[in-house]
Amino acid sequence: MSQKMKIGIIGAGTIGSVHADAYQKVADADLVALCDILPDRLAEKAKRHGVPLQYTDYHELLANPEIEGVSICVPNRLHAPIAIDALKAGKHVMLEKPMAMSAAQGEAICAARDAAGKVLQMGMVRRQGADAEVVKKAIDDGRLGDIYQIRIRLVRRRGIPGMGGWFTTKSESGGGGLIDIGVHFFDLAMWATGLWNPTRVSARTYAKFGSPMQDYHYISMWAGPPNYAGTFDVDDYAAGFVRFGDQATLSFEVAWAANANDEQMLEILGTKGGLKVGGDTVLLTEVDNMLADIKLNFDNKADGFAKELTKFVAAAKGQGEPAATGEQGVVAMKLIDAIYKSSKLNQEVTVGE
Ligand SMILES: NC(=O)c1ccc[n+]([C@@H]2O[C@H](COP(=O)([O-])OP(=O)(O)OC[C@H]3O[C@@H](n4cnc5c(N)ncnc54)[C@H](O)[C@@H]3O)[C@@H](O)[C@H]2O)c1
Repeated sequence: MSQKMKIGIIGAGTIGSVHADAYQKVADADLVALCDILPDRLAEKAKRHGVPLQYTDYHELLANPEIEGVSICVPNRLHAPIAIDALKAGKHVMLEKPMAMSAAQGEAICAARDAAGKVLQMGMVRRQGADAEVVKKAIDDGRLGDIYQIRIRLVRRRGIPGMGGWFTTKSESGGGGLIDIGVHFFDLAMWATGLWNPTRVSARTYAKFGSPMQDYHYISMWAGPPNYAGTFDVDDYAAGFVRFGDQATLSFEVAWAANANDEQMLEILGTKGGLKVGGDTVLLTEVDNMLADIKLNFDNKADGFAKELTKFVAAAKGQGEPAATGEQGVVAMKLIDAIYKSSKLNQEVTVGE
């Protein structure tokens, strides 16, 4: 392997550009190729990021033997097929979230990784936040004691991306806000606490803001202007309750849109202390039989994507572990599958069945 690992990015949209910028900060990476099916976007992005090789067909990028690793930054429907093709072509794979459209697809990606003997890293960038790291360290150091309840509130007052585009079309995305943003905090909660065993779920998803699409008065349309000829058939709000055996529980609200204030919060309750990710990071505990609020101060300025991609390249070079594994991606997908199933059946369901 050369000193710098040659990288290609497949999908030159919003997050493809974020990866392109972040790879510039990864000392061991050399971003050499970009792929998108839209030739104009491809040319513009390649120029912007100074990427020499351009492909409109990802198979041709994968056929280039010089390229050792790829970032996959395409709509969710294409995650599994492109990841599997890339692994079969002998590339290390950095796969954006959500892992796939279902846990079954995620398992197929892991099988392809095992057959290829290459590195697969999931794009769970929220773990790279300094606040997340501080919370995980506090948990690992035993400062929370036994953890028994987690609360996730991930609510946008109005934030449906690309109304009528791939994000709001279930056959392209696998779902709405739940799979799009919920996956970040489900992963964060399980990673921070080590509770990778969700067992039962009771949940309900709703679609209250996207139909008819013209009635949605969006504030931010960063994912492009609305396409009123397109589709909205996904969730914009989800609430539910998850059991981790008889050990712990998790309640959540995840919304792309709701008549509620914006909030991004993960709260973890333990017998010795409680902590939040989102807002001030304050350990609520007791010291000398008095209630104590201990504010944790840390530098939160690092670029999470650069940290994530640095870990991907290091893992590909055999110098570390992937920052988030395929197996963890599959657990998150099983949880999401169960949430959608519970909502559809209107009853509690077993995760993984
Ligand atoms: N980690 C994060 O915080 C984060 C943030 C945003 C998006 N994402 C994820 O990144 C992925 C892409 O999201 P986005 O917002 O960049 O979407 P986007 O629509 O802006 O970009 C997707 C790009 O993929 C291209 N594309 C489609 N089919 C292709 C194909 N067959 N070959 C090559 N390119 C193809 C499209 O033309 C488009 O340019 C999604 O899975 C999304 O969930 C992650």
